[in-house]
Amino acid sequence: MDSEFTTDISNYNLKEDGEVVAESYSNIALIKYWGKYEKQIPANPSLSFTLSEAKTQTRLKFSPKKSEKSEIKVFLENQIKPSFVPKIEKFFSSIQDYIPFISQYDYEIYTQNSFPHSSGIASSASGMSALAKCLIAMEKEFCYEMEESLKKASFLARIGSGSASRSVYPGTVVWGKSKDVEGSSNEFSIPINDEVHPVFADFRDTILIIHRGEKKVSSTVGHQLMQNHPYAEKRFQEAHINLRNLLKVMKEGDVDGFIKITEHEALTLHAMMMMSNPYFILMEPNTLSAIKRIWKFREEKRIPVCFTLDAGANVHVLYPKEFMKEVEDFIQRELKSLCENGEVLYDCVNQFL
Ligand code: PMV
Repeated sequence: MDSEFTTDISNYNLKEDGEVVAESYSNIALIKYWGKYEKQIPANPSLSFTLSEAKTQTRLKFSPKKSEKSEIKVFLENQIKPSFVPKIEKFFSSIQDYIPFISQYDYEIYTQNSFPHSSGIASSASGMSALAKCLIAMEKEFCYEMEESLKKASFLARIGSGSASRSVYPGTVVWGKSKDVEGSSNEFSIPINDEVHPVFADFRDTILIIHRGEKKVSSTVGHQLMQNHPYAEKRFQEAHINLRNLLKVMKEGDVDGFIKITEHEALTLHAMMMMSNPYFILMEPNTLSAIKRIWKFREEKRIPVCFTLDAGANVHVLYPKEFMKEVEDFIQRELKSLCENGEVLYDCVNQFL
């Protein structure tokens, strides 16, 4: 597919070998991406917060390839992971038009996550965006005039894993074409921090690890199940409306409005899963218990705390920084016991990368 990022190998002064490093943070979507078309084009726009603690660091070593096909070795926390290779091979072959030297080398990829292994925190967003940033760093080494381009990193990250395109930028980020967001695109994300009230710039996200480990249904399968989903079109339309309304409340600093839209989006995502064919449920009983306790606490104490969910059982507890003390006491008292091994991860919006 021709795009502004298509380029030719003759534009580069290739090096024999070398290594580059990059890091990238996870993100949590408030308006959810769920359903896609060919080439990882999202069926609707999404909006997320980039986080501060949950990150992936990646070192990419490259050397001239020794055989026809590039050899890729992946190490997670210094342990070799052959099971990660097919996804990266597929990613590299799909970006050949934009990173034309990609097929010239063998690679060793060393990657580590700050969050506990198999905590159920999605590593694909931070992982793919860290790798995309490494490729941009490599490109920069081969082409001295080139400005390091976050836009291209976001574009490449999207091809690796949709939500990864948002992790390239700090703060509040939109991915997907929306007539309400100037400059938005299906191909890459854009940060919209200037459009957001300061109360959201340092919002807290505490992640309740309700269930560790692999999800029963991957997000790849979940996206596919939106293809013949009887409610898909309605959902995609509603995501546009929810985004428009969320942008408005985030601009105004309307935290109550933010809560209503954010929780509605989280439950809509899981409703789509429950109405898929075959249907599935990723929430666990303790997911629901946590939601009910959050609602009760919010009503009784009049403290603006809410939840969102990603494609799993874990609960993201969202609240303004000014209520940290009260909410964190509540988490310790009433929510921690719902978590596997009492595991809770304290995170917040990352304003600066
Ligand atoms: O980027 P993927 O294919 O892992 O899909 C992410 C899907 C959700 O996390 C559920 C929503 C989102 O927008 O991040």
